[in-house]
Amino acid sequence: MDFNADDANIFENMVTGGADRAKVYIETYGCQMNVNDSEVVASILIANGYAITSKLDEADAILINTCAIRENAETRVFGRIDLFGQYKKGKPSVIVGVLGCMAERLKDRLLEEKKVVDLVVGPDAYRELPVLLRAAEEGQKGINVLLSREETYADISPLRLDKNGVSAFVSIMRGCNNMCSYCVVPYTRGPERSRDPHSIVREVQELVSAGYREVTLLGQNVNSYYWEEQKGLLKHKVNFSDLLEMVALVDPRLRVRFSTSHPKDLTDEVLYTMAMYENISNHIHLPVQSGSTRILQLMNRKYTREDYLNRINAIRRILPDCAISTDIITGFCTETEVDHDMTLSLMSEVGFDFAFMFKYSERPNTKAARHLSDDVPDEVKTRRLTGIIELQGKLSQQSKEADIGKRFEVLIEGESKKSRDEFYGRTSQNKVVVFPRGSHSIGEYVYIVVTGCTPATLIGKIVKE
Ligand code: 5AD
Ligand code: SF4
Repeated sequence: MDFNADDANIFENMVTGGADRAKVYIETYGCQMNVNDSEVVASILIANGYAITSKLDEADAILINTCAIRENAETRVFGRIDLFGQYKKGKPSVIVGVLGCMAERLKDRLLEEKKVVDLVVGPDAYRELPVLLRAAEEGQKGINVLLSREETYADISPLRLDKNGVSAFVSIMRGCNNMCSYCVVPYTRGPERSRDPHSIVREVQELVSAGYREVTLLGQNVNSYYWEEQKGLLKHKVNFSDLLEMVALVDPRLRVRFSTSHPKDLTDEVLYTMAMYENISNHIHLPVQSGSTRILQLMNRKYTREDYLNRINAIRRILPDCAISTDIITGFCTETEVDHDMTLSLMSEVGFDFAFMFKYSERPNTKAARHLSDDVPDEVKTRRLTGIIELQGKLSQQSKEADIGKRFEVLIEGESKKSRDEFYGRTSQNKVVVFPRGSHSIGEYVYIVVTGCTPATLIGKIVKE
């Protein structure tokens, strides 16, 4: 039987910390925040006497960090849990734990329905993991799914899961207060809370000292980042624009990205800060979800089509070279062909450089599940999604073709998968470029002229400054 996880993130390099330590294998599904959470989990485990392994067959414990955002994400994880059940038959001592959003959503039902599962731990309870693992070693099943108003793991330096040592995720806040009607995240990740900016800057400084050249500041809604502290008689306030500036100032060689922005909170102030610092990446991920104001209202997104287009105009005005990407949900409750056409027309009007596109998937207990009917038939969702993907394919192609002949600064991230003679890296606009490596090294910046493109990447060659 093949137990390989094709599309999950795992730690590539084994971190032993001592041969006698119990070994934990961690598999991660879902968003960048989950990847970063697994790095926090690994750091907590190592500090408590465990080792991390990339090899399933060496593991004394298997942890799956899960995603609950759409039904198919959960189906995939259930498949993995069943497979680990098979595996456990041959090695009964192995502990299986479910972490993250599915743990939070399903709670003790996971222990009841999946006998193979020994541990269920929600996103705010990872400090408890060593205690729960030790109890599981004694044969006790364990659960902690308490959500917190304060936990940001601010003092924990994540153990980096990435393979290249060039780019790292830095979590700046947790949770979400937006209550978009389709979304399970406010229930699985709890209320929004921001992390102390000093701990963020410290983590970024450590990354720079360790040779990292790019950070991505992560949050469900980074634009509502807010920190307040008393300094003598004065209240010192830090908003997202201030934080972005603080991070950009750590080192001019450090490229700063962030994700995700909510259109209702993306201020001109943030755009001006981006314009002021060359090392803040010229890319904004701005999920629109739908081009129809009526659907946006049902989704509780708190902006109209016009408000969204107004934000796009502000980006184009203040940051003419900025790439814009988005998320789109098709087939939300009551969506008509007219609503769908409005999504298509908005896509063309904006000309997104890139998009993540999904069929609406009803999530239990969300506002939409409680108050609206999931009434667009699956075949209609599929047809509309196909139309959206086709259109985005053309827009992405146009976006890449428009780069041909232009010069970009590219951060080298690694060897190209196809050839050892080529590197890949990304432009400030977050587009991947493949080019002959010359005498350069991973982690360096080079200037590239784009000479062509494939459906997936730009092709270029290194030029002198
Ligand atoms: N169904 C489909 N897509 C969803 N997303 C969030 N919840 C759902 C859902 N219930 C999408 C949104 C969000 C992205 C992370 O996932 O587009 O921006
Ligand atoms: Fe979900 Fe909306 Fe929060 Fe994003 S902003 S995590 S879509 S509730």
